[in-house]
Amino acid sequence: MNNKRSQPVIAGLDIGSTKVSVVIGTVTADSKIEIVGVGTAPNTGIRQGIVVNIEATTESIKKAREEAELMSGYQVEEVWVGVSGSHIKSFDSKGMVAIKNKEVGPQDVERVIEAAKAVAVPQDRTVLHVIPREYKVDGQDGILDPIGMSGIRLEASVHIVTASQTALSNNLKCIERAGIKVAGVVLDQLASSLAVLSEDEKALGVCLVDMGGGTCNTVYFVNGSVAHTSIIPLGGSHFTHDIAIGLRTPQIAAEEIKKKYGSAMASLVSENETIEVEGVGGRKPRVVLRRDLAEVIEPRAEETLQLIQNDLRMSGLSAFMGSGVVLTGGASQLEGLVEMGEFVFDTPVRRGSPLTVGSKVGGLIEVVKSPAYSDAVGLLLYGLKNSGKKYQSAHNNSQSEDILGDSFNAWTLKVKSFFSDLF
Ligand SMILES: Nc1ncnc2c1ncn2[C@@H]1O[C@H](COP(=O)(O)OP(=O)(O)O)[C@@H](O)[C@H]1O
Ligand SMILES: [Mg+2]
Repeated sequence: MNNKRSQPVIAGLDIGSTKVSVVIGTVTADSKIEIVGVGTAPNTGIRQGIVVNIEATTESIKKAREEAELMSGYQVEEVWVGVSGSHIKSFDSKGMVAIKNKEVGPQDVERVIEAAKAVAVPQDRTVLHVIPREYKVDGQDGILDPIGMSGIRLEASVHIVTASQTALSNNLKCIERAGIKVAGVVLDQLASSLAVLSEDEKALGVCLVDMGGGTCNTVYFVNGSVAHTSIIPLGGSHFTHDIAIGLRTPQIAAEEIKKKYGSAMASLVSENETIEVEGVGGRKPRVVLRRDLAEVIEPRAEETLQLIQNDLRMSGLSAFMGSGVVLTGGASQLEGLVEMGEFVFDTPVRRGSPLTVGSKVGGLIEVVKSPAYSDAVGLLLYGLKNSGKKYQSAHNNSQSEDILGDSFNAWTLKVKSFFSDLF
């Protein structure tokens, strides 16, 4: 397979709770991404974001990769990996240092982040992200970029995201077995936020909910920076399960009916519309009211949104969500969910798809415009943003032998060393 070396290639691998997707993009000279290939494979080897079957997951990764490579004509050597699931835990921390030369320099910022990171992280957990929320110089708060400010004391509030070492190493093992290198590991919803949210929304405060198959992953932005992340252990597969039980139909049929006729609010469905429902164990199909289907879904939708609302309230950030709530991910496509969200959150709610914001991405956008691709598209944007000048320098030097090769940022190196520690 030819790898057209003159164009830097970037790839994302999203191991979601129901599917694995690989998205390949090329980086243009003006630092935009052109999507050139997409591959998706269902994955039964994952439960709530945790690998429960290495072989099945490895096979799904291989399949998704092959499909994306075939579509694009490029080869994937290295990927930015999105992780999520119930094994992710995040918390806030603070650090304080004395400013060295009475003016904050990059080293002071580095030291204060290190100090904030020096909290006790249990041995069985790996730190995925340390995200600065805000800085204080001599007690003056609300500073986003303290470099160049005069003062004596620098404080930082950070949000730390950790993953279970075992769960993460199983994820990485599957990727390694599929023969792919890891460029970096990213929390899924952070990636999605890059693809779905506008800068204005983040500045005004917004809650993004990535509704996947097994979990809903949230990230809250206040004043343009990440203030909180959380994982809620309910997702689209719970809706499907309820339909299977409620309407006595096989899971596969329940999934189909949900996508085609499901609604989160029974009141939005006309009273006499009917649908045909497959019976279990060879029983004859039955005709049921579409409203009955919505009545099965409604309590689960309400429960899921209520749990998100509780999380928002507990975080103490409700008052800062000026732009309201954005729902994305495959499960956010359920009809009526946005309407119910406005009712539960009492704030504006919209459905977010990758590419609805700005024009950071081009190419095969028709293929990835569904909310189910928010995380995969976001991974490419995250990779581009966090690789320094790697992709640009490849442009300047089209002879470069290994485009996805050497110039990693420090964080990536850390992940790499973690990776090699494991294997
Ligand atoms: N049109 C739709 N309506 C309702 N739910 C949907 C629709 N399309 C996909 N889903 C649900 O979205 C979930 C998968 O979301 P996705 O973001 O792709 O998952 P993950 O990233 O967790 O693998 C599944 O539970 C699926 O049933
Ligand atoms: Mg997902």
